[in-house]
Amino acid sequence: LETGCLSIIVLGASGDLAKKKTFPALFNLYRQGFLQESEVHIFGYARTKISDDELRNRIRGYLVNDKTASLEHSESLSKFLQLIKYVSGSYDTDEGFQLLDKEISKHEVSKNSVEGSSRRLFYFALPPSVYPSVSRMIKKCCMNKSDLGGWTRIVVEKPFGKDLESAEHLSSQIGELFDEAQIYRIDHYLGKELVQNLLVLRFANRFFLPLWNRDNIDNVQIVFREDFGTEGRGGYFDEYGIIRDIIQNHLLQVLCLVAMEKPVSLKPEHIRDEKVKVLQSVLPIKDEEVVLGQYEGYRDDPTVPDNSNTPTFATVILRIHNERWEGVPFILKAGKALGSRKAEIRVQFKDVPGDIFKCKKQGRNEFVIRLQPSEAMYMKLTVKQPGLEMRTAQSELDLSYRQRYQGVTIPEAYERLILDTIRGDQQHFVRRDELKAAWEIFTPLLHRIDNGKMKPNSYQPGSRGPAEADELLSKAGYVQTHGYIWIPPTL
Ligand code: BG6
Repeated sequence: LETGCLSIIVLGASGDLAKKKTFPALFNLYRQGFLQESEVHIFGYARTKISDDELRNRIRGYLVNDKTASLEHSESLSKFLQLIKYVSGSYDTDEGFQLLDKEISKHEVSKNSVEGSSRRLFYFALPPSVYPSVSRMIKKCCMNKSDLGGWTRIVVEKPFGKDLESAEHLSSQIGELFDEAQIYRIDHYLGKELVQNLLVLRFANRFFLPLWNRDNIDNVQIVFREDFGTEGRGGYFDEYGIIRDIIQNHLLQVLCLVAMEKPVSLKPEHIRDEKVKVLQSVLPIKDEEVVLGQYEGYRDDPTVPDNSNTPTFATVILRIHNERWEGVPFILKAGKALGSRKAEIRVQFKDVPGDIFKCKKQGRNEFVIRLQPSEAMYMKLTVKQPGLEMRTAQSELDLSYRQRYQGVTIPEAYERLILDTIRGDQQHFVRRDELKAAWEIFTPLLHRIDNGKMKPNSYQPGSRGPAEADELLSKAGYVQTHGYIWIPPTL
């Protein structure tokens, strides 16, 4: 393992992402001993002129919750906060970044009395409009200069552009300054426990190998629902919409892991090669396989224009043109302000041929991976109803994490991904050609929506979304099981 000074620089330190995700993830890593006091120093950088203590006070509240409010926790919290130094400056002039470099170097000199290399991790908790200028400034003023080796890495997060052209433009601006090996494009869904489990599940189990194809699987749904609207971030959301916010990135990444072929090995490049291949096999999206929705009341938000055409809900069917998946619809569905909050993958199998039990009426086999909440995998299957009669019933084989892994804390997605950036593992990060392929799939559809050629149907907040979406689902072949519902076990 590498040793030596590690400087983590959070750019946009006073913003929402930094407060809610980046600093809490760093604190959790620190608490668990992944960030050593003898090596690490954290820098916050932003335009606001505040002191170190003011920044610490602003983030303190986000690092404590009911579960962790113990004495031991508050001791480590104070120590952690002392590791943070604040530097203020603009995002496009030398002065601030020269000052930042001076501060990082000062700390490197003092810590490098312990021998080792110097590692600089720049975390962009920033709006993408400043990515190019910030990248230029880092390249000009803040690169690692240690003779003892080390690295400089940048961590960026979506939105990476708004369509293929703007995304490629952004990629080439950053690509001129940094090598692909230095760029970590975060998609936080790749840090979720059950998403990380997909590779193991599919390729380490004999069960799935022969079944995972068009001969057995009828349709696949990848679903994201939220039970709250876009309040508080309507301005951002209205520019992007649900497809850019959730489907083109989070759900598509999940699709890659569900649909891709077995990689040559677990090396990041081997995995990412397979993801790109499957993305490149996706056929152009047909308008009749899309349903858009916008919840009633969305436009009441003062930051949303009164005539907004932005979808807050979408069901989009993707078709993968390859030997394994020809004819199997991959139904990606995401919505805000719906009746429940959950994310899951639902693989529905075909009917049993030559059925003698009339099972069809009861429902098909399904394999469901619940990503959140109540992480679980369950197989919905038909069994004999216990008792004297020969009756069939729907039941499930259930691997619920809360029950099976009692006492195990499932790490936050950001925590795991930041640790990967420090360790230099790009497996769970999006490669440039992968991003390009993802935009290629959705750009024509997005342009049709942006031009007003496709319009969202309205739906009631707290509902399942527009009724047309359910009709599309059944047209695609999905058969809903009636009278059966999986209930996460309680302890
Ligand atoms: C973000 C989106 O990327 O993911 C949000 O911008 C969304 O709109 C969030 O709420 C969902 O993440 P999670 O981890 O809560 O499912």
